[in-house]
Amino acid sequence: MNWQPFRGNAPANMTIYSAAFPDVSDQWPMKDDTAREINALNQALKAEPALLPPLLESEEGGQTVLIPQHRYSEQAYRNRPALAAWRTRLVPSALALFAVQNPLEERLPEGTKMDSESRRWFIHANDAIGIRSRAKVLAAMVEKYIHNDIENGWISLASGAAIPVLEALRSAKLDGQQVFLSLVDNDPVALRWAETMAAQEGLTVGEQLTLLRRNLVHTLVRSEDLLLELGEHQAELVDALGIFEYFNDVDAVIFLRRALRLVKPGGAVIVSNMLTTSPQIDFALRCIGWSHIFPRTLQQLQEIHIAAGVPVENVTVVVPKDGVYAVMEVRV
Ligand SMILES: C[S@@+](CC[C@H](N)C(=O)[O-])C[C@H]1O[C@@H](n2cnc3c(N)ncnc32)[C@H](O)[C@@H]1O
Repeated sequence: MNWQPFRGNAPANMTIYSAAFPDVSDQWPMKDDTAREINALNQALKAEPALLPPLLESEEGGQTVLIPQHRYSEQAYRNRPALAAWRTRLVPSALALFAVQNPLEERLPEGTKMDSESRRWFIHANDAIGIRSRAKVLAAMVEKYIHNDIENGWISLASGAAIPVLEALRSAKLDGQQVFLSLVDNDPVALRWAETMAAQEGLTVGEQLTLLRRNLVHTLVRSEDLLLELGEHQAELVDALGIFEYFNDVDAVIFLRRALRLVKPGGAVIVSNMLTTSPQIDFALRCIGWSHIFPRTLQQLQEIHIAAGVPVENVTVVVPKDGVYAVMEVRV
């Protein structure tokens, strides 16, 4: 494990660690310059809380255009065509994450050629580092759950293109165990990408892989349909990276409570949430303009799991050094 002592503010009774991982940004030029540049934008945004994220407007002919709402957004997007295409056409889909998870690709998933200025930000922006590090936390956490038996069930809620799941499976070095994966997402494009990427790992639909196009709000938060469909206590593991912060507190409690019912005794649910203390949060939310989410404190995350009926001793939290996300392992 890469876990280290956590030095930030956290509830006294929370089991919490920090973690550091190798990242593509370690070897890429202009790391410090880029951090300074983005920190300056972040500070400028922090000083002006009224500044809003860019808007997207449909033009005649059906094309969507990005309209910055202040000079910092204008500055950010001016010489970064790939970043502008990414924000306009891919955010908040899982394919937006693909570009962050694979910043050395020549093109974005929708075809735009990557330019060097955009690439530098996809590599060095702290939020991009955080998206990659939360996947590494997941990989480190899941090992013990998928090494257990000969057959293991893993349900990924809001799987997107399943990049963190597939990375975790690759790094788990399974020793004859089989993992049956159910990927749930409401975006058919993301699921198609997931299918293609899973096939590269030898996972095929109808054998080890099930794809479910479902809306988690309708089928897990507002109803129990997904519980009925997948069955209670069937999976060793449920992951839900990158979705918790889209739910308000009431929905997050229901979501967690029901996700836990999918898990066998001895298994776990792993969720992530952006922290309010994420170092470049104003840049990410109001300069780049990621879609509306609920960043949370560690205290709020603890209140949510307690409200979902999970005692503090069943939860371990890991916050990577970049400080963007908390990843919670909630054991059943
Ligand atoms: C930020 S991405 C996370 C993808 C993946 N878990 C990862 O970490 O790479 C969020 C995903 O949630 C999906 N999503 C958002 N709202 C959803 C909903 N109500 N029901 C099902 N999926 C949803 C999106 O389609 C997207 O693929």
